Amino acid sequence: MSAIIIDGKATSLKLKNKISQRVASLASKGIIPGLAVVLIGDNPASHTYVKNKKKTCEALGMRSDLLQFPETLQEDQLLEVISGLNHDPEIHGILVQLPLPAHIDEFNVILAIDPEKDVDGFHPISVGNMMIGREAFLPCTPHGIMKLLEEYDIDPAGKHAVVIGRSNIVGKPAGQLLLQRDATVTFCHSKTIGLADYTRQADILISAVGRAKFLGKEFIKPGAVVIDVGMNRDDEGKLCGDVDFEDVLETASHVTPVPGGVGPMTIAMLMENTLLSAEKGLA
Ligand code: GUN
Repeated sequence: MSAIIIDGKATSLKLKNKISQRVASLASKGIIPGLAVVLIGDNPASHTYVKNKKKTCEALGMRSDLLQFPETLQEDQLLEVISGLNHDPEIHGILVQLPLPAHIDEFNVILAIDPEKDVDGFHPISVGNMMIGREAFLPCTPHGIMKLLEEYDIDPAGKHAVVIGRSNIVGKPAGQLLLQRDATVTFCHSKTIGLADYTRQADILISAVGRAKFLGKEFIKPGAVVIDVGMNRDDEGKLCGDVDFEDVLETASHVTPVPGGVGPMTIAMLMENTLLSAEKGLA
């Protein structure tokens, strides 16, 4: 039997419809949720991501300020920009697009963002609150993955979830959120020996590796749920994931496509975090 294709585009549309209604309700009280996106340098992928974030904000009736700076911007200048945004009452969310130029310390920048506006969920306070299961801005990609599982009635409880990748943005928080939903979690990474021995035990397999079509059916347990966070280009320059989609279709029970899987969910969750931040101002 062929796997069920997890439709991230349709799921994100449903979420965005709900978000736009809440935005309209806030607007009637005179509050427009505002997201500031800070982009430094000219990484083409970052430009594409940022453009999509801005477009989505505007489509949902939210305000989006794009602050663009050259690669030569110094760290202290960036910290000043962030401080200004922290104090701007019309800005509810601050996102500094990563990666940053090598001369800027990413941790210092994340630390400078007011945790109340940390819609990426990268600040140590947000990460700490998430770790102990308290209310927090959840990082958008892992949160989007959890929403997809929920939408397709996939309960992680008691399942073996294998996460490939240990980044602070995706791998680590994805494993943590799965653990909170009572999965048994294994982390694999670039130094893991015998990767397939682990992935073949996965009821839920999350891949955030960044290698085009790296995971074929030999890595997949029959009936597994396969979530592909990869955003790569194949030999012909076409966008593709870490998973060889066609190859795993007869083995997996569910699989996310690239594009149209996790990607649209990441943006939807960013919108939700910005909205939540604006709604908090009302409380
Ligand atoms: N670069 C790649 N993904 C992300 C993300 O989710 N947030 C930020 N700030 N930068 C990124």
